[in-house]
Amino acid sequence: MTSFAEKHKKLERNVTLLAAAAFAVVTVGGIVEIAPLFWIDNTIEKVEGMRPYTPLELAGRNIYMREGCYNCHSQMIRPFRDEVERYGHYSLAAESMFDHPFQWGSKRTGPDLARVGKRYSDEWHVQHLKDPRSVVPESIMPGYAFLADRELKAGDMSGHLKALTRVGVPYTVKDIEFANADLAAQADPDADTADLLKRYPKAQARDFDGNPSRLTEMDALVAYLQMLGTLVDLESAAPQEVQR
Ligand code: HEC
Repeated sequence: MTSFAEKHKKLERNVTLLAAAAFAVVTVGGIVEIAPLFWIDNTIEKVEGMRPYTPLELAGRNIYMREGCYNCHSQMIRPFRDEVERYGHYSLAAESMFDHPFQWGSKRTGPDLARVGKRYSDEWHVQHLKDPRSVVPESIMPGYAFLADRELKAGDMSGHLKALTRVGVPYTVKDIEFANADLAAQADPDADTADLLKRYPKAQARDFDGNPSRLTEMDALVAYLQMLGTLVDLESAAPQEVQR
């Protein structure tokens, strides 16, 4: 009698057979998980309001990555009551659709920043970034005062935007053409920002670092922080009531 147990014994004792069988099982599992992704239209639900970052926000985001802010801050609110009560509506997939790379992070030494935009004034951010303990005495966040002294050298933003179109960010020909001008205009209180606002709805244009005569890294980083979580229309993302 060759029982199931005996057949299995054979499999377990023959390394080649076991490897082949394991490979077959993993292959089937992999296909079942991955194949449907090629047939469904989109894995990201569309929501109103998401737009690509303005050149200034993008430059601020680059500073955020350069300084390793993601080592202490996540940008991903999980759909749990404690998180939603503290940080606001849980994060939607669409909110990171233009992030290359995404900034979800994996550690929260400091709070989540996914919806920090407009929660504090620019002055608060500048003061906090220069000297965190001057506004939050118990803070262990390092200071970044040098950002206010450093001129923003973002490089060629047209090239940056163009590169991002290659991975699917829908910047228009005009966005790319005016990228360098847009970068300067968003932080210049005297600039005409009508065109910028038309192409980037809800963009906040003003001097961010308290020093209108200079375009600093602080301007870019604060512009980025003040935008976080403010773009998406959460009403449009609310689950629709079931129609009967
Ligand atoms: C060593 C860990 C660490 C690093 C690195 C760090 N932070 Fe923080 N951050 C904290 C902690 C802890 C807090 C909470 C205390 C406070 O408000 O200072 C905080 C608070 C904040 C807040 C206020 C959030 C809120 O909702 O109150 C902002 C904004 C912020 N950090 C931005 C940044 C940025 C931008 C960078 C990178 C330039 C950065 N942090 C780097 C630890 C860090």
